[in-house]
Amino acid sequence: MKRYNKFVVNLINNNNIKSIVEIGVWKARLSKNILDNCPNISRYIGVDPYIKWNRKKYKDIINKKSKSELERAYKIACDRYYTYHHKAKLLRMTSEESIYIDGLFDMIFIDANHGYEWIKSDILRWEPKVKINGIVSGHDYSKKFKGVIKAVREHCKKNNISFKVEKGVWFYFKREYNENTC
Ligand SMILES: C[S@@+](CC[C@H](N)C(=O)[O-])C[C@H]1O[C@@H](n2cnc3c(N)ncnc32)[C@H](O)[C@@H]1O
Repeated sequence: MKRYNKFVVNLINNNNIKSIVEIGVWKARLSKNILDNCPNISRYIGVDPYIKWNRKKYKDIINKKSKSELERAYKIACDRYYTYHHKAKLLRMTSEESIYIDGLFDMIFIDANHGYEWIKSDILRWEPKVKINGIVSGHDYSKKFKGVIKAVREHCKKNNISFKVEKGVWFYFKREYNENTC
């Protein structure tokens, strides 16, 4: 298991997390590791549109993939989710489109478009869907993704939130005072 997957699995198990939304799923490697290793999870929503993006909007290795490779990734993810179909659902749509799903969650994991504006929007969009004392988190807090660093730092500074980074995963616990950041 990749080191950041292991870290997320432990974060979930150590904090009694039962419901999660993962934004950006690709082949569902992280989803599978969580579902295989976190027995308390009762609701898991993965969101990914599996589309080619305009290179100006989203620079990622995924944009070099052909349509058939995207479909293949979707199929692999579907199979992995199907194993847990009683509690896991993969939504083929963008982060923006999926915000209307019902309910509040114990945790959100943001790992979609790593550009500054996109991470900023994903945090503002999804933080209100996280329960108080739940976890707001994401991947790739690293020099390679300066937009992630800038968006997380800026948001946390503005709202007086103290966040942590481990194995490239940034995270913080949602408290009462940042309930209305949106
Ligand atoms: C780095 S991969 C996700 C890896 C996955 N979280 C894991 O750890 O196994 C990024 C994914 O984000 C998806 N993505 C890009 N923009 C998105 C958006 N606006 N909404 C949802 N997903 C998006 C891409 O299609 C791609 O599959």
